[in-house]
Amino acid sequence: MPFTEWKNEYSVGVPEIDAQHRRLLDIINQLHHAMKMGGKPTAIVEVINELIGYTRYHFAYEERILEDSGYADLEEHRRKHRAMVAQVETFRDSAAEGKATLSLKLMGFLRDWLSKHILETDKQYSDHLADRRAA
Ligand SMILES: [Fe+2]
Ligand SMILES: [Fe+2]
Repeated sequence: MPFTEWKNEYSVGVPEIDAQHRRLLDIINQLHHAMKMGGKPTAIVEVINELIGYTRYHFAYEERILEDSGYADLEEHRRKHRAMVAQVETFRDSAAEGKATLSLKLMGFLRDWLSKHILETDKQYSDHLADRRAA
């Protein structure tokens, strides 16, 4: 059983964004696997860097769609994205220093942050985008 997986309730109604969220879940699972295997810090840092890179790409994509559609809560949403990237970069730097206690804390944080962010923050724009498409 994967560490975390897609649930139908995660859907925000935009296929491209759902696909990006699935990809984020995949990378988190990849990272969990690398940590479980007791991989070298360099291998783990590599996966965290992949996660940071893809997260930045996804956040930029989402923010652009929200900006183009005139979404009112964009600034607050952007702030949450920025805080997330900063937090994962901090984890990455700790992993690079080989801090052993990090893994469980990081994995729990990533899994909970992503599901909570999708369910509580991303899903808030679903109706807004659906209204836009209908207009
Ligand atoms: Fe978001
Ligand atoms: Fe998102």
